[in-house]
Amino acid sequence: MDFKIAVLAGDGIGPDVVGEGIKVLDAVGNRYGHRFSFTHRLYGGIAIDQEGEAISDATLDTCRASDAVLMGAVGGPKWDSPSARTRPEAGLLRLREDLKLFANIRPVVNYSQLVDATPLKPEVVRGVDMVVIRELTGGLYFGKPKRRWQTSRGRRAVDTLAYSESEVERVLRFGFSLAAARRRNLTSVDKANVLESGRMWREIALELAPEYPTVELKHMLVDTCAMNLILKPKSFDVIVTENTFGDILTDEAAVLAGSMGMLPSASLGGKGLEKRWASGVGRVFGVYEPIHGSAPDIAGKDIANPIATVLSVAMMLRYSLGLPSEAAVVEKAVDTALSLGFRTADIAQGSSKVIGTREMGSILADRIRTGSVG
Ligand code: IPM
Ligand code: MG
Repeated sequence: MDFKIAVLAGDGIGPDVVGEGIKVLDAVGNRYGHRFSFTHRLYGGIAIDQEGEAISDATLDTCRASDAVLMGAVGGPKWDSPSARTRPEAGLLRLREDLKLFANIRPVVNYSQLVDATPLKPEVVRGVDMVVIRELTGGLYFGKPKRRWQTSRGRRAVDTLAYSESEVERVLRFGFSLAAARRRNLTSVDKANVLESGRMWREIALELAPEYPTVELKHMLVDTCAMNLILKPKSFDVIVTENTFGDILTDEAAVLAGSMGMLPSASLGGKGLEKRWASGVGRVFGVYEPIHGSAPDIAGKDIANPIATVLSVAMMLRYSLGLPSEAAVVEKAVDTALSLGFRTADIAQGSSKVIGTREMGSILADRIRTGSVG
């Protein structure tokens, strides 16, 4: 089959890791007879420099005309001034908002080969396997008013945490159906003891629960969740939460996996998402990206870990391209490479073979193409 992929490599290590994601897709195409055509577009800081904005209308149109988007990362010190007219991150937020990608799926898995790559005790992290669903187009990131101004007593700034019922309902429904397909345990995370939006979130979760009788729903305050993620991470199956909470909790959860360089993500949207997803056949449009940032200090040095991007490619194969067995082959290649001791610097321990970004990508691609890891 033929597939159109829009590629937004972005800044910093974005191009480094996205290059390996493409290598892996080409290997999948090679082995299984699919054709992936890639359309590269500028995005983030580099797009501000060359096109005047972090994401252009034309780039958004390219994304819309594609089956899926493969994304790297945005940002860097060059565009960091607090008084800058626009920031690279604005491109990311616009992409999420314009493409209506309200559900951000961030699986957090501790590969047994990496139990010692985390500072946490092996018995705490071994077997961690959860998915965090972060609401992605509302909450504190997007609520209005959002501005900064001068008053007679100094500067003042406001951000707003706002949700409509339908925004909360659709992401919770997605959480329930994902939990129903996994270990049937859904933790809805809010701050209902303080925030009105959190009380509404909790109320809607309670109202929906009877429609998903197989799923056990728990509510947890976000501060308690932050603690339990480190204390008893294996108690979580699916977490669903507000935009900012999800952002913060997933950086924390990355420690369970051993490195930010291990966590992939998918951002999905559209009407009836939970039904289309639950039917198990892909073809849901999505944006796929590692959860890590642009790490400008190591950009272009061939040391970034491409695994988060490669695992994001696996999610793309499964959810947007309808190729679940190809997705499984990519995931298996990662598992095998780790078992054989191949490590990028971020996940290296003791006697592991430390390799660069490109070599890791090539090992994974070879494994996919030939069924062996060299
Ligand atoms: C993420 C990132 C982004 C976010 C930044 C780069 C704007 O941290 O995807 O988690 O805050 O959403
Ligand atoms: Mg983040």
